[in-house]
Amino acid sequence: MDAIQNYIDQNKDRFLEELLELLRIPSVSAQPAHNGDMIAAAEWLKKNLTIAGVDKVEIHQTPGHPIVYAEKMIDESLPTILVYGHYDVQPAEPLELWESPPFEPVIKKTEIHPDGAIFARGSCDDKGQVFMHLKAFEAMNLNDQLPCNVKFMIEGEEEVGSDHLGTFCKENKEMLACDVILISDTSVIANDIPSITTGLRGLSYVEVEVTGPNKDLHSGVYGGGVANPVNVLCEMIASLQDEDHRITVEGFYDNVIDLSEAERKAVNAAPFDIEEYKKGLKVNDVQGETGYSTIERTSTRPTLDVNGIWGGYIGEGAKTVLPSKAFAKISMRLVPNQEPDEITEKFIKHFTKIAPAGVTVKVEPHHGGFPVVTPIDTPEYLAAHKAMKDAYGKDPIPVRGGGSIPIVALFEKVLGVKSVLMGFGLDSDDIHSPNEHYGLFNFYKGIETIPKYFINYAELKSK
Ligand code: BES
Ligand code: MN
Ligand code: MN
Repeated sequence: MDAIQNYIDQNKDRFLEELLELLRIPSVSAQPAHNGDMIAAAEWLKKNLTIAGVDKVEIHQTPGHPIVYAEKMIDESLPTILVYGHYDVQPAEPLELWESPPFEPVIKKTEIHPDGAIFARGSCDDKGQVFMHLKAFEAMNLNDQLPCNVKFMIEGEEEVGSDHLGTFCKENKEMLACDVILISDTSVIANDIPSITTGLRGLSYVEVEVTGPNKDLHSGVYGGGVANPVNVLCEMIASLQDEDHRITVEGFYDNVIDLSEAERKAVNAAPFDIEEYKKGLKVNDVQGETGYSTIERTSTRPTLDVNGIWGGYIGEGAKTVLPSKAFAKISMRLVPNQEPDEITEKFIKHFTKIAPAGVTVKVEPHHGGFPVVTPIDTPEYLAAHKAMKDAYGKDPIPVRGGGSIPIVALFEKVLGVKSVLMGFGLDSDDIHSPNEHYGLFNFYKGIETIPKYFINYAELKSK
């Protein structure tokens, strides 16, 4: 262990320089203009993994973006940890809201990160976090301290729904065989309150289109006489939640497993300061489903949110027009046992049903994903608990997360392997938002904690 920590201490500046290099590659999976950057990021990872001493590293092409796979097998009889992460990032737009360019990383101190944080798109989600694993591996491997086998699977399509990773897993079951999947793509409660994510919400994502007249019309000549699709879409969306902020889509809650009182108590026992929460978001109040706390609303309860809405004239000045069409992108976060396809179907049925005469609606399903809940009494989880306790000096708290990593449920289905979600970001790190950042404390704490996980896991499994 000392050899590992010494190596980390001696190489910490280089680790950071390398991460900044990776962050300079604008690997935005959603934008075809960045296809070349996706390849560049995959190649960069391949090179870095090679230096860290894997015995095999390959870039697997897919009909979408490539998957980087690497492994170091030291002994077939030892357990195997598969590290999963993603090198693709969310689009950086709106660019004008960034204080420094999204792909020119800078380090700045903040109130929450007094030691400094790396500001760049992908710094926390997920390049910074996946890179900690490369360096933790390097520190173990180059000092002959690797206690088990390791495999890396780093994809480039997480932010766009992991369309081709499922097929890749199905076609490469043997190569991907492992005992546990270790993922750092979530957060801790605070830098002095370690936690481990024990659940993720599922997702159903749809795009809706409301059409009124077959062309834009003069809003004076025709306004008041025919349905305005933007007005109609707003009414329809407003009706998707009742006054208690419960979702009105017929059958939406049918399969939701309600938590027991004891489970709810445990969920609400996690440290949470509502005043700090409001202050951090600059809102004067919170809002959500009646009868549930903010923690529950953002983790154990399903939700429906409009992610974007457009239609009509949005240019400068005023244009009097009754638009022909209106659009919205809508996401629903799901909890056990809601099924994404079923929810999407229910949404389509409901949305079509509530459309008033005078408009037609189209609903196009995008990606989806199943929710997951991970057990906390397994060696896989206990190894994480022990590693964090050792690194932070405090017992980590199990918390269910509100975000989604759809491939995690698929790993369980296809590979039959459960994941451990040991992430190191903070919810306030502005992932998916302008000025995304990742604390240097978090980056180094992660690199320090991961080898402890490997050691604990190998030990627990050998018992
Ligand atoms: N890393 C996030 C998920 C996350 C963040 C989970 C913080 C828990 C805490 C991941 O990259 C992500 O953004 N997932 C998407 C889903 C995907 C299908 C686009 C999400 O949750 O919106
Ligand atoms: Mn992520
Ligand atoms: Mn993300």
